[in-house]
Amino acid sequence: MQTLRLFAKDNGSFQRAARIIRAGGLVAFPTETVYGLGANALDSAAVNKIFIAKERPAWDPLIVHVTSRQMLETVIAKPPAQFEDLFAAFMPGPLTLVLTKKASIPDIVTAGRQTVAVRLPAHPAAQQLITASGLPIAAPSANRFQHVSSTTAEHVLADLDGRIDAILDDGPCRIGVESTVLDLTGEVPVILRSGAVTREQLRRMLGHVVIADPNAVWRQQEGLPSPGMMSRHYSPHTKLVLTEGSEIALAEAVQKLCKRRLGALLPTEWKISAAEAFDWGQWEEWSTLASRLYAGLRWLDRQKLEIIIAPLPPEQALGGAIRERLLKASGGAMLAGKIMVPGS
Ligand code: TXA
Ligand code: MG
Repeated sequence: MQTLRLFAKDNGSFQRAARIIRAGGLVAFPTETVYGLGANALDSAAVNKIFIAKERPAWDPLIVHVTSRQMLETVIAKPPAQFEDLFAAFMPGPLTLVLTKKASIPDIVTAGRQTVAVRLPAHPAAQQLITASGLPIAAPSANRFQHVSSTTAEHVLADLDGRIDAILDDGPCRIGVESTVLDLTGEVPVILRSGAVTREQLRRMLGHVVIADPNAVWRQQEGLPSPGMMSRHYSPHTKLVLTEGSEIALAEAVQKLCKRRLGALLPTEWKISAAEAFDWGQWEEWSTLASRLYAGLRWLDRQKLEIIIAPLPPEQALGGAIRERLLKASGGAMLAGKIMVPGS
């Protein structure tokens, strides 16, 4: 299959992309977090193509993207009390809510669950595509399963060229890490994935919020609250080693590994020489580091290295989301301040 490259700025691109969605095809499109791989959420056969293109297992459910409260109500049953404040404060935006689904959403979207993950993206191109299609769009991140997510059209094509009908290119994504996923179906809201809507913000609004413990998930993969929490995710092909986030800790680790061909996600002002360094941005400027994270991992992955090394940001604002992604990308290879070299 030839993948059609459409540019958001060109006349007619949205109509062409919407026609493909309505006809049951796959279109990758930008959101403010990462690129998504979209299909008509009401069409099981179309959604099935997403799983095939990504090589994603059928047990991992998808997020349904909508543009309005009205469209949202075609997808979800009556939401719980906390929903109104969250909707007013964060939607549209990088927040996905897990709610009880309506029968209109086919089982393949939710992997047979009675709940559905929904999001209103803030990106104008995503909104325009959904509006032009007139349909809710099911979309996971536009990457091969377990690989690093895509924040540019080039990343999408590197993983999915020839496997999808079209890509709508509107340049790089602003935030760069996936949306916060918040489950509202239990007694207490549970954060299943950290993102740009931070735990601090959610706690201020909701009071008690539980953070799903990925370690518990690593211990027991059965009955996961969110199947996508499985350990390895967002991964480069090269081994990834993590250090606690300080210049000294990274320098020590680099020295220890000096005989290996090494590349680093390196904060701009840190003076450390590695074989290859990706200039990641100023340490503590978490939004810059988030927006450059996946581009950095993908670039380092192309440099034929033995090991990629990266410092872990603290649990602070978007730092927490970056930290979670890096831990999953490494399969949890760094524990309690000690580095652990996978496979050695
Ligand atoms: O920013 C984002 O969320 C991007 C853009 C494209 O919107 N999408 C994205 O989708 O990251 P994906 O499929 O890569 O991640 C969705 C996560 C997965 O971890 C999945 O297991 C979880 O949400 N999820 C989806 N439906 C769920 C449900 N009903 N219950 C619990 N978790 C669910
Ligand atoms: Mg994903």
